[in-house]
Amino acid sequence: MPDILVTDDGAIRTIRMNRLEKKNALTLPMYETMAEAIGNAATDNNIRCLLIAGGPDAFCAGNDIGDFMKMAQGGALGRPILNFLYALARCEKPIVAAVNGNSVGVGTTMLMHCDHVVAGNTAKLSTPFVALGLVPEAASSLIAPRLMGHARAFALLVMGQSLSAEEAKAAGIVNTIVDPAETDAQARAAAEKIAGLPPQGVLVSRRLMRGSPDEIVARIDEEAEAFKVRLQSPDAQAAFMAFMSRKR
Ligand code: COA
Repeated sequence: MPDILVTDDGAIRTIRMNRLEKKNALTLPMYETMAEAIGNAATDNNIRCLLIAGGPDAFCAGNDIGDFMKMAQGGALGRPILNFLYALARCEKPIVAAVNGNSVGVGTTMLMHCDHVVAGNTAKLSTPFVALGLVPEAASSLIAPRLMGHARAFALLVMGQSLSAEEAKAAGIVNTIVDPAETDAQARAAAEKIAGLPPQGVLVSRRLMRGSPDEIVARIDEEAEAFKVRLQSPDAQAAFMAFMSRKR
C-alpha cells in the first residue's frame, strides 16, 4: 500500500497518511504526493472539500527523523516539504482533518491551516521543535499566537507542552471531539456538509476570512531559513541521535 492514499469520492478528496508502521512520520515522497493532491484540487471543479486523515493510533508523527538527519548533512530543507507547506497556505478549497492518536510536529502545525478539525478524545497534539534543537515551521509561529494567544502558543511551540483533545479544542485548533471510532465518519460528515454548500459562497467567504496567503508564505520561508540552520546544530544532531538510538 502506498504511504499516502488519495481518493476522490463525490466532491471530497481524501488524503490519508498511511505509513502506519512508522506512525505516519512523513518522508519527502509523502510530502510531494500530498502537495500534488492539494495543489491539483484547485483546478478540479468536482472537488469542493479536502479531507486529511491518518491512522487509528497516529495522525502523524511529524517529519521522519532519519530524513531530518540526511537534510542536515545536505544543508537544505527538502523541497517537497516547502511544496507541501505552500500548497496548504495557498489552497483555496476548505480542508477538514480527522485526527486520532499522536499528532507531532508538522502533524500538529498542518492542522493550523485546516478549516475544520475533528479529533478523537484520545488525540494528543505536540510540537517538540525546540527540545529537538529546531524552531517552529509551517507558519505556526504566526498562526498559533493569533489562534490561541501568545502564552498558550509559547507553551505549545517553545516549551513543547502537548495538548489533549480538550485543550486543543479550547485553543481553537479542534472543532469537535468524538469517540475515536467515530473520527473518520464525523470528519467525512463535516466535509459532506461543506461540500453541499454553494461552492462560490464557501470559496469567497474562506478567502475573505483568511486574507492573502502571502504573509503566511513569507513566514514559512522565514522559518525555513532558521530551521535549516538549526537542523545542523549540535542540539538537533544530539536529539536526532537520541531518538534513533532510544531503547524501548
Ligand atoms: N521519524 C522516524 N521514525 C519514526 C518517527 C519519526 N518522526 N516517529 C515514529 N517513528 C518510528 C519509530 O522509530 C518506530 O520505528 P521501529 O518500529 O522501526 O522502531 C515506529 O515509528 C513506531 O514508533 P513508536 O515510538 O514505537 O510508537 P509509539 O506509539 O510508542 O510513539 C510517537 C509514537 C509519535 C509518540 C513517537 O514515535 C515519537 O515521539 N516520534 C517522534 C516524533 C517527533 O519528534 N517528530 C518530529 C517532530 S519535529
